Amino acid sequence: MAEQDKLTITKAAIGRLADCDDPRLKNVMTALIRHLHDFVREVDLTEEEWIAAIDFLTDTGKMCSDRRQEFILLSDTLGVSMLAVMLAQSRGRAAKGATEATVKGPFHREGAPEVPLGADIAEGVAGEPALYRGRVLGPKGEPVAGATIDVWSSDARGFYDVQVGEAMMARARFTSDGEGRYWFWSIRPTHYPVPTDGPVGRMLRAMGRHAYRPAHMHFMVHARGYVPLTTHVFDRKSKYLDSDAVFGVRSSLIADFRKHKAGEAPDGQHVGTPYYTVDFDLRLAAQAKTRKHRSRKPA
Ligand code: BEZ
Ligand code: FE
Repeated sequence: MAEQDKLTITKAAIGRLADCDDPRLKNVMTALIRHLHDFVREVDLTEEEWIAAIDFLTDTGKMCSDRRQEFILLSDTLGVSMLAVMLAQSRGRAAKGATEATVKGPFHREGAPEVPLGADIAEGVAGEPALYRGRVLGPKGEPVAGATIDVWSSDARGFYDVQVGEAMMARARFTSDGEGRYWFWSIRPTHYPVPTDGPVGRMLRAMGRHAYRPAHMHFMVHARGYVPLTTHVFDRKSKYLDSDAVFGVRSSLIADFRKHKAGEAPDGQHVGTPYYTVDFDLRLAAQAKTRKHRSRKPA
């Protein structure tokens, strides 16, 4: 029997993948074992610390439900989600010139109400009115008509609808018009903390970190022939732009929330209070063409 020591055990663990016939899985698991073992050696991990880590991950799993995904939050707050987003967008040349992507976060909901362009999606939601508008464009600047645009945000107190009840609020789905345009009314969101009442909150406090995200509106765009885009527009005046708890800010996504006096808004609506306008175009990458397989004639 080959005796292992604290260095050769890594090779032995990797060697157990010899019969794995999925090359990608083999590659990923090999790197995972190598990095994990290096990490344990580097910090000289004690058994108590390893058990504490396992308890933490167990608590993280127990916190998950249909309405709460603590593992995604863990990945977000460690910067892993954003790293995966960046890698996905930089893969291939298709994304060149496209609007930068950012994290989806845990508050997207399937089945948001489909509403006409110009609708106010903030009825009953606390906050100052804001008109969001822009165009969905392709890589050559061509308008993308018929794109599906999902939007969602917190209210002005920093809460998403899922955190306060069952009803869908401050979220909707639109279709861009023939010139690729979209516009809708909602509120000007505020900065807010990611959920801190679970293990990830405990981790952030122990690390001496704050839990805040800068104010933003979420967008998710789908259009035939284009790469789907998940992104935000951030408020230039928001706190925490430089220290987003989930590392999601990209300078190209920061926009002005321009303030206007009460009166007639650009879409012809009369607004009885001061309101904001936000201009934000959504530029999509073209979907790579799938190669057609030539059917071979039988020999
Ligand atoms: C969000 O923006 O909704 C979000 C993203 C990551 C973690 C928590 C919230
Ligand atoms: Fe958010």
